[in-house]
Amino acid sequence: MSKKHSMLILPGDGIGPEAMVEVKKVVAWLTANKGIEFDISEDEVGGAAYDKYGTSLADHTLEKAKEVDAVMFGAVGGPKWDGVEYSLRPEAGLLKLRKELNLFANLRPALCFEPLVDASSLKPELVSGLDIMILRELTGGVYFGEPRGIEELTNGQRRGVNTQVYETYEIHRIGHVAFDLARKRNGKVTSSEKANVMESGLLWREEMELIAKDYPDVEYENMLADNCGMQLVRAPKQFDVIVTDNLFGDMLSDVAAMLTGSLGMLPSASLGEKGKGALYEPVHGSAPDIAGQGKANPIATILSFAMALRYTYDEGDAADLIENAVNEVLANDIRTADINQPGMTLVSTSEMGSHIVDAMEKLSN
Ligand code: IPM
Ligand code: MG
Repeated sequence: MSKKHSMLILPGDGIGPEAMVEVKKVVAWLTANKGIEFDISEDEVGGAAYDKYGTSLADHTLEKAKEVDAVMFGAVGGPKWDGVEYSLRPEAGLLKLRKELNLFANLRPALCFEPLVDASSLKPELVSGLDIMILRELTGGVYFGEPRGIEELTNGQRRGVNTQVYETYEIHRIGHVAFDLARKRNGKVTSSEKANVMESGLLWREEMELIAKDYPDVEYENMLADNCGMQLVRAPKQFDVIVTDNLFGDMLSDVAAMLTGSLGMLPSASLGEKGKGALYEPVHGSAPDIAGQGKANPIATILSFAMALRYTYDEGDAADLIENAVNEVLANDIRTADINQPGMTLVSTSEMGSHIVDAMEKLSN
């Protein structure tokens, strides 16, 4: 019998838990029908962990996350915890996981499913066939830079400080991931920064240009981040891999997400050094306004699990099957509320999960 794949499930807050229920359906189907076995543990993270343990990421949860092959993460945050101190907030649990597991490479594919071309806010011809990868640096930059904080000044003013900082090794390791990805995709890397106003951006550009020399077979360009945002909504298909820092990556990946028709569709992978640490999560947040109503779209979470199968568990065929099943369900005009259009069949979170499992069954016969 082949080895069981170990996985820690952290559903989190808001729509995280209900989307994760649908992932478990997919997991159960794969075990029953494809003999792919998982050793699964589950725990709280974010606000749910704060309520249970008094912190958004308990020590024992972090230890477990370090032990397993991959973490499946739902979403964190909600108005309930707005007043909670910064270091204990739901978001802090996620940031700590990224940092402690050294998950410096965040892969955020923006792929337009053909049945959804009309759901995009852009003209169909601009997004039809869109397949880009935002590669976001995830453990550095302004998210973690020191000094940081809010200080009281003697003149009665307050001063908020965050620090954007990158060292060469951080730029190099994410740079190599970008070029390696481009080689397996469409052979182009766009590196995005603000070298015109930020020294850290200038360093980023200079180091990326050096790395590019090692990959003569990959087309390389750099682009100022503001222009990159504009180009993403003007002509997104010019891009293949966009590599950028933590903060610009946060913004540009939300923009790219919207191009595809719905934030509810996009998965992500956060990876450390080869084979060490991996976390998979939907790009969308916890959407507390629709939580618990069966309205959430579970596709991004299910596709995140497909990425885990591909990048961590080496089960590419199962990943293909899930992605094809999602496409099939969408082609049959089955929609959750966020991607619904007139004349289509509106389904709940749970029904969407079941349709995807049914399509997996059908496609494998
Ligand atoms: C994301 C989110 C997070 C981030 C928040 C929840 C801390 O926006 O993953 O894009 O800013 O990185
Ligand atoms: Mg974000």
